Amino acid sequence: MRHATTPTFITRFFPFLSFPRPFIPKISLLLACLHSTMIPTLRVASRSAVAREANMRLVLGARCGSTWANVPQGPPDAILGITEAFKADSFKEKINLGVGAYRDDKGKPYVLPSVRAAEDKVVASRADKEYAGITGIPSFTSAAAELAYGSDSPVLKEDRLVITQTISGTGALRIGGAFLERFYPGAKKVYLPNPSWANHNAVFKDSGLEVEKYRYYNKDTIGLDFEGLIADIKAAPNNSIILLHACAHNPTGVDPTEAQWRQISDVFKEKGHFAFFDMAYQGFASGNTDKDAFAPRHFVAEGHNIALCQSFAKNMGLYGERVGAFSLVTASAEEKKRVDSQIKILIRPFYSNPPIHGARVASTILNDPALNKQWLGEVKGMADRIIEMRALLRTNLEQLGSKHDWSHITSQIGMFAYTGLKPEQMDALAKEHSVYATKDGRISVAGITSDNVKRLAEAIYKVTG
Ligand SMILES: Cc1ncc(COP(=O)(O)O)c(C=O)c1O
Repeated sequence: MRHATTPTFITRFFPFLSFPRPFIPKISLLLACLHSTMIPTLRVASRSAVAREANMRLVLGARCGSTWANVPQGPPDAILGITEAFKADSFKEKINLGVGAYRDDKGKPYVLPSVRAAEDKVVASRADKEYAGITGIPSFTSAAAELAYGSDSPVLKEDRLVITQTISGTGALRIGGAFLERFYPGAKKVYLPNPSWANHNAVFKDSGLEVEKYRYYNKDTIGLDFEGLIADIKAAPNNSIILLHACAHNPTGVDPTEAQWRQISDVFKEKGHFAFFDMAYQGFASGNTDKDAFAPRHFVAEGHNIALCQSFAKNMGLYGERVGAFSLVTASAEEKKRVDSQIKILIRPFYSNPPIHGARVASTILNDPALNKQWLGEVKGMADRIIEMRALLRTNLEQLGSKHDWSHITSQIGMFAYTGLKPEQMDALAKEHSVYATKDGRISVAGITSDNVKRLAEAIYKVTG
């Protein structure tokens, strides 16, 4: 049986396209792609019908399909979504409490004067732009180690610390995750507090580790679930890897007390757990870098060979410079050498070696006594402003006659406050009051100013009653 052929209006213009009917769907596709496939199609037309079909498939595939056609759309980043909504709002007195970066009392990004001064020094030195070593700039890493562990730490004196510069705190976590995945002798699983900084889960999963949670936050008390925490780390198999926020827990702002840290350390010892500290806010919590380093220092003093991630994003305001460090306490100088060699082998194919400018700035601040003193004052200034905004927000809420207990606003610490507001109340804050923050009720206290705190309190009062 003969198939009907291609409609005449096509064959009039393209006489070589007189296909039998079964080819017509392909012709429609061809038309859809005509403008990009015209010339190759002309060439194909001179061949036999079978060859024509096969070739056309190739042409269509190459021109219309894509290698990435099957890549699914991912969900938008929660914080970026808030920023978008905030930008789109035309209300003059809108408030953005989503962003995890310090703002001054006028709501503006803040470059620390000590950072400006150090930067001037770095630029004036007209240093070369050669590569740093794989583990970064030694003057930076040794000063970062002293800042974290204390200059009199036996770990430093005994030359037992492996430390590498990293791409800020996130890079430190990622190098740490990769090292554990490669060398940790126990289960390749990390326990995170529930809740934790949202990126922890992704960082450790991408490192090839399994991720589990341990209890941390009690939503009824809006405080630490200490019993739950102890019970969960006791129930975890011996020698588990457990992540601890050294200070200013993100997102809750709830930290264990020093007495509670001592108990946690004891349980770690009993169980042989491995303490992996994330210290993204040293100095930013209390305003004192030594006080904020209490937990990792106590663990080290108790004989734990910890891992520690440091970030200079918040305490030096070097967010975009990406300055951080990852360190591991080892048992001896000999062990340090071996571990250090493997850290280098691991980093080399990741990014070869870290960027130099931000680390030079941080190194100048940490190593120049006058600048260091100035910086410690500025860190305290930022922490104090945050503490003051917490107090103001609480007082304003209480003065409005709110029946809720807002004591957690001032007992929590660091950049974030976990208000206890429910997702629908956070929605109402955004829709009815132009106050933007994450749905989990977390607000960045850094976004509160003397000018907006009253309006913020009124908005919270209205949605919580
Ligand atoms: C708990 C915690 N860890 C690590 C980081 C990493 O920050 P960065 O990579 O900017 O240093 C952050 C940033 O918000 C954080 O809150």
